[in-house]
Amino acid sequence: RFQRRVRACRYDIDQFTPNFLSIFDSLVPSEEEIAKQNQLVIALSRLINKEWPNSKLYLYGSCANSFGFSNSDIDLCLSIDDKEMSKVDIILKLADILQAGNLQNIQALTRARVPIVKLMDPDTGLSCDICVNNLLAVVNTKLLRDYAQIDQRLRQLAFIVKHWAKSRRVNETYQGTLSSYSYVIMCIHLLQLRRILPCLQEMEATCYVTVDDNHYAYFDQVDKLSNYGAHNNETLSSLLWAFFHYWAYQHDYTQDVISIRTGKIISKHMKDWTRRVGNDRHLICIEDPFETSHDLGRVVDKFSIKILREEFERAANILQYDPNPSVKLFEPY
Ligand code: CTP
Ligand code: MG
Repeated sequence: RFQRRVRACRYDIDQFTPNFLSIFDSLVPSEEEIAKQNQLVIALSRLINKEWPNSKLYLYGSCANSFGFSNSDIDLCLSIDDKEMSKVDIILKLADILQAGNLQNIQALTRARVPIVKLMDPDTGLSCDICVNNLLAVVNTKLLRDYAQIDQRLRQLAFIVKHWAKSRRVNETYQGTLSSYSYVIMCIHLLQLRRILPCLQEMEATCYVTVDDNHYAYFDQVDKLSNYGAHNNETLSSLLWAFFHYWAYQHDYTQDVISIRTGKIISKHMKDWTRRVGNDRHLICIEDPFETSHDLGRVVDKFSIKILREEFERAANILQYDPNPSVKLFEPY
């Protein structure tokens, strides 16, 4: 049986918070960079609207969910209602429009799981990926951004976790490790369990969206929740400690699914995620908040689960014992 080892947080963990906060500050994009991104979105929208007046270009992913580092690529989603054209046709035509608009390095990836067009804007040097009609991603982007506004510790924690995951090379879905989106959800879940964040999807809904005939709703008046976590005064470094200890020693990989939709841990059994079906192995179970049949851990296989868990343990042990954890944690793999 899986043994749950629980250690007490080291008594001096809080002394490292200023170091982690300065790492956070160094990763946050500047106002200037954000303004540049917005300008590019406006310019691309104009160009695309000339051809498709009823289309709309949305920013999603890290540039819009408030968990983006400086210099990250821009994720865009083109919403277009054209019954005549397939997604692949739209992607190919979009590539032509961008070519004519003097954008560079244009590539239409029509055979990817999510077909996209890649481009680089020579004026700003920014790179973008544009997908088509993936509106659920726009909705989950807003959910993440709304959570980030409730308590600043979420953004700080998720930045450090993402920075760790990138340094240790466990943020590569094509290698069987987890997406940035998954790591942010894991951070939200931890803070929900510690009552630093509420569960917005369990509260009375104030925001409603319909995507492909499915209805989604949650409470989005987050400015009313700015004191929600104030009773809990844990600092960034003790939350980081808790994050890695949870995933190294406390999470029950055989039984549990984390769910920010419910703010709880639910059982694999209840979701029928107890065995492998096709490529879904359910070795680490993270429920998508909207596509609830979607296990964000489905990319993880029997090799990468070992790597992931070893990295969680390494990080937990550094935070427990290392005299200078804010250096060792991010040592390149
Ligand atoms: N997304 C999703 N389902 C996934 C993975 C991603 O819906 N399984 C969507 C989410 O809207 C997410 C966006 O795609 O915000 C981008 O995902 P990802 O690249 O994981 O995150 P970023 O926030 O863009 O992080 P990074 O800084 O690493 O680019
Ligand atoms: Mg991204």
